Amino acid sequence: MHIDGRAVKSCTVLVGQANGANVTTIEGISKGDELHPMQSAFRDNHGLQCGYCTPGMIMSAIDIVNRYAASSTRTPSGTKLEGNICRCTGYHNIVKSVLDAAGRMQVSQAAE
Ligand code: FES
Repeated sequence: MHIDGRAVKSCTVLVGQANGANVTTIEGISKGDELHPMQSAFRDNHGLQCGYCTPGMIMSAIDIVNRYAASSTRTPSGTKLEGNICRCTGYHNIVKSVLDAAGRMQVSQAAE
């Protein structure tokens, strides 16, 4: 989830730490029926996995892309997702999804 726009591991945050903050979960990133560009990229690149790891991957990836967009480094690295662990399969399509979404998010933010 995001607290004030930054990805955090929800299982390690005490409710008092979120008091007064803006909390966003995976359910809050789409605009009605329109998926967030990161969700669309995960769908289109077959990066979706189970309901346990995918929300964390997507929320972390959005934060990573937003941080890279604000920095001089324009290419987010898959290694930044290392705190999100899936022992079931590989990360190839997830990294592909994040890189695809980085382009989509820049286009989306430019249009806003
Ligand atoms: Fe989600 Fe492995 S597919 S934890």
